[in-house]
Amino acid sequence: MTKNLNALLEVAREAAKQAYAPYSGFRVGSAVRCKDGTIYSGCNVENASYSLSICAERAAIFKAVSEGKRDFTAIAIYVDSDKIFPPCGACRQVIHEFGSEIFVIYANHDETFETTIAELLPGAFSL
Ligand code: THU
Repeated sequence: MTKNLNALLEVAREAAKQAYAPYSGFRVGSAVRCKDGTIYSGCNVENASYSLSICAERAAIFKAVSEGKRDFTAIAIYVDSDKIFPPCGACRQVIHEFGSEIFVIYANHDETFETTIAELLPGAFSL
C-alpha cells in the first residue's frame, strides 16, 4: 500500500473512535481523499429507529460534498472489529456516483484490502 493510502487509512481509524454505535457495537470510520488532497472523515451514527442509521462511508462523502468537494480519488474504511467487510451496497452506490475509478481500501486491526469501486459494483446503475 502506498504511503498516501496508509495515511488515509489512519484518518479512517481515528474516525472510528467517534462512532456512535450503541446498538450494533460495530465502530466504523471512513476517510475520503479529494483530488486537491483534502481529506474528509466520517463515522457510523446509529439511531434507536435502526433504519435511520448512517454508515461511515456515506457520512464522510456527504460531509465532503456539502463542503463543495466532488472529485474523489480514494476512500478508506476501518472497522474496529475482528470482522472485516467491504462497503455495504448502499455505500457502494454512493461512492460510484462520484467515479468508477475511486480506490477503496478497507481494513481492520490485522488485514487490509485494496480494490476499486468498479470492482465492488459491477454493472452499477448510473444516469
Ligand atoms: N456500517 C458502516 O458504517 N459501513 C458499512 O459499509 C456497513 C455497515 C455500520 C452501520 C451500522 O452502524 C453498523 O455498521 C452495523 O451494520
